[in-house]
Amino acid sequence: MKTYLKILSTGICVPEKILTNQDLEKMVDTSDEWIVTRTGVRERRISDKGVSTSDLGAAAARMALKNAGMTAEELDLIMVATASGDHLFPSTACIIQEKLGAKRATAFDISAACSGFLYCLTVAHSLLNIGAFRNALIIGAETLSKITDYKDRSTCVLFGDGAGAMLVTLGKGKKGIFASHLGSDGSLSCLLNLPAGGSRMPATVETVEQDLHYIKMNGNGLFKVAVRAMEEAAVKTLEKVKITSEDIDLLIPHQANIRIITSLRKRLDIEEEKVYVNIERYGNTSAASIPIAYHEARLQGRIDENSIVLMVAFGGGITWGGVLVKG
Ligand code: ACO
Repeated sequence: MKTYLKILSTGICVPEKILTNQDLEKMVDTSDEWIVTRTGVRERRISDKGVSTSDLGAAAARMALKNAGMTAEELDLIMVATASGDHLFPSTACIIQEKLGAKRATAFDISAACSGFLYCLTVAHSLLNIGAFRNALIIGAETLSKITDYKDRSTCVLFGDGAGAMLVTLGKGKKGIFASHLGSDGSLSCLLNLPAGGSRMPATVETVEQDLHYIKMNGNGLFKVAVRAMEEAAVKTLEKVKITSEDIDLLIPHQANIRIITSLRKRLDIEEEKVYVNIERYGNTSAASIPIAYHEARLQGRIDENSIVLMVAFGGGITWGGVLVKG
């Protein structure tokens, strides 16, 4: 992409309720020591009953709008990345549009699991580039706790809830998003899925009794492909603009597992200080993980207007993606 997608502002929303490893020790056969050493997670945020993905997404969006000094009426496009949307349809983006009162906006969701936010940024970049829209609100939002089986120790220790939003517009200067690479491999869709509730296996009493409306995951299988997919995403994104990992000031990886992040960092030969990690506080928030991390890194002064930031993700599908930002 020859143009820069300028980041006007960001916002986040995480539920107040914290589920610690000690809480989980009382729910399943696990230990704080196992969870911390195998995943890096210490605690995660959990939304209350009755709170849905659109509630968190709308709150993050309101913060981003406030930070940019913009009104919802100025939005032309709303895109939401989520794997735990309010419904199969309508889209969570349409629900957030209504909540914000963004009457002029076109709204839709993108389904790419944890890579969804980077998919959205890349699609938004293309749409803004051809002049279809001007101001876009990109949201990654999840309430994974609603589709997590708290009897299954291999998944329930990993996931958490949250949302991050980013306001973007086509920039005139050389600041913002300037390169990306996306990829998918549907042959590995069995590694992570939600079996029931769609047209393949409509919800029935039996599917509920068999817990098929919860996330099912082959953790070992995913781990191996995750590192490979994220490395490929990173390398191919860097190649597009002929820079190397040495040029990166901050790496923002999808926060799935600290061991995946460390393996990726080593393969890319990036120093530990140049990697943003918050997995210990939020766990894996899927599509929300990168926008939450980017927002926090900005607030903490770890990104200035000349920083080269590489965001890289992988997720169910499987999908992967990399996006480069200046500033
Ligand atoms: N507490 C204690 N023991 C556990 C737990 C737990 N919470 N979970 C699993 N174990 C046990 C297993 O039963 C197994 O016991 P066994 O040897 O007696 O059979 C043992 O620990 C080792 O299990 P592994 O699955 O080999 O553990 P591993 O080191 O691979 O860690 C994990 C599992 C953390 C799930 C890891 O594979 C992983 O993070 N994979 C990637 C998952 C991921 O990123 N998913 C999301 C990607 S896409 C998205 O973000 C939506």
